[in-house]
Amino acid sequence: MNIRLTTEEHVTTEPGETLHAALRRAGVDLVASCGGTGSCGKCKVRVVSGKFAGVPSTRLTLRERERGMVLACQTVAETDLYLEVPKESRLVVGDRIALSRTGELAAYLRTYGAEINPLTKRIDLELPPPTLTDSISDLDRLKRALVLAGFGGIRLSHGVLATMAGVLRCADWKVSLTYVEDNEFRDEALFLTSQDDARHRYGIAVDVGTTTVVLYLVSLADGAVVDVASTYNSQIQYGDDVITRIVFAAEQSDARHGVAALQSAVISDINALLDAVTARHAIADESIDAVTLAGNTTMSHIVWGLDPASIREEPYIPTLNFFPVWKAGTLRLKVNKQAPVFTMPCVASYVGGDIVAGVLASKMHRCPETALLMDIGTNGEIAIGNEEWLVTAACSAGPCFEGSGIRCGMRATAGAIESVRIDRSSFEPAVSVIGNVHSVGICGSGMIDAIAELFQCGLLNPKGHLVEGLTSRIRKGEDGLEYLLVRSPDRQNDIVLTQCDIENLLRAKAAMYAGVTTLLAEAGFTIDAIQRVYIAGGFGSYLNIEQAIFLGMLPDLPRDRFSYLGNTSITGAYLALLAKELRNEAEAIAARMTYIELSASRLFMDEYVSALFLPHTDLSQFPSVARRLGERKA
Ligand code: FES
Repeated sequence: MNIRLTTEEHVTTEPGETLHAALRRAGVDLVASCGGTGSCGKCKVRVVSGKFAGVPSTRLTLRERERGMVLACQTVAETDLYLEVPKESRLVVGDRIALSRTGELAAYLRTYGAEINPLTKRIDLELPPPTLTDSISDLDRLKRALVLAGFGGIRLSHGVLATMAGVLRCADWKVSLTYVEDNEFRDEALFLTSQDDARHRYGIAVDVGTTTVVLYLVSLADGAVVDVASTYNSQIQYGDDVITRIVFAAEQSDARHGVAALQSAVISDINALLDAVTARHAIADESIDAVTLAGNTTMSHIVWGLDPASIREEPYIPTLNFFPVWKAGTLRLKVNKQAPVFTMPCVASYVGGDIVAGVLASKMHRCPETALLMDIGTNGEIAIGNEEWLVTAACSAGPCFEGSGIRCGMRATAGAIESVRIDRSSFEPAVSVIGNVHSVGICGSGMIDAIAELFQCGLLNPKGHLVEGLTSRIRKGEDGLEYLLVRSPDRQNDIVLTQCDIENLLRAKAAMYAGVTTLLAEAGFTIDAIQRVYIAGGFGSYLNIEQAIFLGMLPDLPRDRFSYLGNTSITGAYLALLAKELRNEAEAIAARMTYIELSASRLFMDEYVSALFLPHTDLSQFPSVARRLGERKA
């Protein structure tokens, strides 16, 4: 059967195949937060004409059903179909996400006092050309030159020998040998080039996030960031968070195929970014000869094709935390196949290399003052400590800050409401939208703003329940009470925050705050001990600190103790790419961090229940909020 889209794309579907699967096969990716189980309601499409069979879903409103909306993952075609795929259902892969301040990174690297010492090094060699009287083999000639240069102990890889004969002759016997230092074995020579080709050397630092993939192309000579590219992690088509992706892999008839599909999705993303930056700067793939990767433990496993199944099962054990330096060719990355790949070490199943990178980038492990690092992304991870001790935990906040599980939720991209103000007397909202375009949904910072504003206006009580009767914007919707944020012209696509959404977000903020208080208690401290708070993650770039404190998500500390660090995972990967000392430091951080498993902590559960209130059942923990609430009442 055939499916024609309103965008003039054509797709064929096999008998019994869901629309979601058929569209994905044809390259039309849909947002599929639940991995196609029918629970997230994100894969909505509209059947304009044709017959279909499907499972009725409560994830669709009556109005949506009347308009022909169906969940693509729960629907199969019975005849040829004419379909509309709404903008918000499309998974946009390849969106560029604004990144800034990369120009300052080389200067930031210098503040560590570390020498530029990348993963790969080069030796320039000039070999005497062979003659009838000096007719030793090319390999012996190269070894002889290495001995003379003081590198007699170096191992020569197959990569060197594979191209050696041609390179030596084309380069007129003036060559550059790239090698990698090895702490345990002899240093290994990786490949040979002409000295001209060796003049420009690049590396890439990659943040493999659950939601986004960010890549820096870096000059290995001076640490300059030559270009930046980012995209959504297209594994999203298999699920929004790490758990749904692990489940996806496990549910395939052979888990290896599931892991391979996930691996191939993210490797294609990195390669697409590489295509873009190498084309922009006319750089040959072979000139990129060092790679660092930072990701959470599941992403790090999947990138290397390791089955992450045991990460999800009690007692939550990863295959490994410290990854050997493997070759880029193993990953089919579009860089020099021999390039070594350093993977940021992980701490435990739910605290990965991205957090180690974050600690490295914040320098909290080097400072005497106690700092709190909160990475608020698809999940929430926290680290607390100083130069003497470090503790860490994952808070299971869930992906709602990324828009998942929220009726009108979306990621922080164009069209997302990022901030909300509600007039105290009319209760009318004013919203600002990313990209100054029409709003199509609301992202994490917008939701935090909206809930904090509703609470401040008295439209939300401390239990997080919407209060009826004060404004017509609080109305009964398909899922119960909801607050109308933006009315759409046809009233079909109103942007609302439902009671369910609010409860979802309160659970997430409670998990973050309870994680902080539990970790502090485990370390024998209270909130006052925290002298610095670092907020990390793409989400952190938009977060309104004041509102997040008002909500009880962040501790009520003097505002000058808070700093945004943006994406610390990519900053840490950048630092590790350039300095051996910082690669060693990352390994030392991972080794000395104490991981606390919160799911097994009684204290965490108690703290979590207390933190479900707005801002908290114990108002003494939020003195500035208590003051503001008192003023409001007065
Ligand atoms: S409901 Fe279809 S992918 Fe989640």
